[in-house]
Amino acid sequence: MNIAGNQAVIAPAGVFIIGTYDENGTPNAMNAAWGVQSSFDEITFFLSKHKTTENVQKTGAFTVAFGTVNTLTICDYFGVESGRKVNKIEKSGIKVHRAEHVDAPVLEAFPVTLECKVRSYDPETGVLVGEVVNELVDNSVLTEGKIDLEKLQPITFDSASGSYRTVGPIAGKAFSAGLEIKNDTHEW
Ligand SMILES: Cc1cc2nc3c(=O)[nH]c(=O)nc-3n(C[C@H](O)[C@H](O)[C@H](O)COP(=O)(O)O)c2cc1C
Repeated sequence: MNIAGNQAVIAPAGVFIIGTYDENGTPNAMNAAWGVQSSFDEITFFLSKHKTTENVQKTGAFTVAFGTVNTLTICDYFGVESGRKVNKIEKSGIKVHRAEHVDAPVLEAFPVTLECKVRSYDPETGVLVGEVVNELVDNSVLTEGKIDLEKLQPITFDSASGSYRTVGPIAGKAFSAGLEIKNDTHEW
């Protein structure tokens, strides 16, 4: 079976909103699906050349907000228009303020934001690696001090259908469900 050749559907992917400032302090944001946690304090993106990549080269910093059901329209907008042409933050009507630890904007409509310093950026490969120096979490998405995905309502990017999807209920416990097989207690 060969349904899509080398255009791999690797789904679901995250909906990450990368916030940056340009040299004049104008905020910008872009949507990125090709991002992944690459260490306990590190996130890595795979980016084409954008206003965002110009900005990170100048400031050495960016924020990452997680797309949510409530912010879906804004998330998609940040992926279909370039900050080279339009002030997307102004047009979307959202409020921003400068992050405490890095030279990048916090987008206030988003409940979870990572403040990142650029560890490396390679314009040839488009690989941007950020050190997470702080994570901002709105109280509204916390339960007993932990991020609660039922409250956060994150969205994922489904490249098979070109859609955003919600995250469903918990299906099982990690580092635990497989112990039944490991310990020979599983009933087949
Ligand atoms: C769902 C979605 C996912 C995207 N993922 C990426 C990505 O992972 N890497 C990338 O370079 N561009 C990605 N884009 C495209 C950029 O968001 C888009 O080109 C944007 O206009 C760049 O903004 P900027 O020029 O203001 O930086 C994605 C767009 C959408 C709608």
